[in-house]
Amino acid sequence: MKRFQINDAEIGRFICENIKEENKYVVTEGAVLTNHLKNLLIKFNVSEITLGEFAFREKYNERGTENANKLKELLVKVIELEKSFEKLKIVNEKSKQLKVKVKKEKDQTYQYIINYVSKLVDELMYYKTLTVDTATLRKLEDYTFSHSVNVCILSLRIGYALNYDKDKLVKLGVGALLHDIGKNWIPKEIHYKAGKFSKEEYEIMKKHSEIGYKLMKENTSVPITTAHVAYQHHERIDGSGYPRRLCGNEILEFGQIVAVCDVYDAILAKRPYKRSYLPHEAMNIIVEDKGILFNDKVVDRFCLNIFPYEKGAIVELNTGEVACVIENKIEFPDRPLVKKITTSYGLFVDDGDEVDLLSNSNYKIVDLIRS
Ligand SMILES: [Fe+2]
Repeated sequence: MKRFQINDAEIGRFICENIKEENKYVVTEGAVLTNHLKNLLIKFNVSEITLGEFAFREKYNERGTENANKLKELLVKVIELEKSFEKLKIVNEKSKQLKVKVKKEKDQTYQYIINYVSKLVDELMYYKTLTVDTATLRKLEDYTFSHSVNVCILSLRIGYALNYDKDKLVKLGVGALLHDIGKNWIPKEIHYKAGKFSKEEYEIMKKHSEIGYKLMKENTSVPITTAHVAYQHHERIDGSGYPRRLCGNEILEFGQIVAVCDVYDAILAKRPYKRSYLPHEAMNIIVEDKGILFNDKVVDRFCLNIFPYEKGAIVELNTGEVACVIENKIEFPDRPLVKKITTSYGLFVDDGDEVDLLSNSNYKIVDLIRS
């Protein structure tokens, strides 16, 4: 149990006390905290609340956890080695032997990354799905790592839907995983800046795509199409992107896929300078830019293969009730079939009603409590 300031109280945890206002219970012990209840408490000037564990346990997935940890380990290693190699480049001849040693280790680590992504592709082809445990990803803390892994998984799912063969999927997946590697060469005070960038800072930040490309290109085990993902993931088909303002098919399909997945995941993330969007809102933003910023075919594949609310996701409805997603509808990603699991006061119900959000326009999803 933990005492929370009301503004920091985490949605989805059990409530461990009864709180009354005007002789009526606002919340009761054993209920689950929702946005609806939190707003009620704020309205009644309640400043603190005691909460317990999260009511909805993260889906445990051994494969997913191993994948997330392994990918992080490999990414950290390749960044470390690239940095040491760079330092060795500028020191004297005496370091020649060491340079050869570090280069060899760097090559091997890129090869491990390629092999690991190849393992992920096997999983995707065998299980027809690919998951990385979201709880583990969240624990990676550094946004760039979790973002890179998410973009890799999303891109592989799109590539698979486009009938890519294994070789092509691996090339795409490695590029997607390393697309932002150049950010590690951007000064920390800019890379990790909590607020919005100034114009000058943004110009520096934009250099990460070319830096990433050059790092990968120097390595013989990295295919050139993979290196181009880093170079092109901020290009847009109308020519409004960077660094080279490429247009339409001047941007390779890999770059066009990673561009969509990169933006989708970035919109979902809660950052200090912006609210986090709901998955269906993020998808709508992508669709609005279909044919303008993003390739039509890629956006169509994205919409058909990435469900904003996967089966089993726990959502809060506008009524304050919590529900579980039981069926998706490809054409209407924000309106799945759900089954209610709590009342609007956060109390669990046995065998709650099923609601088809498509035929019940009074209902809508207002929060994703657990994906
Ligand atoms: Fe980027």
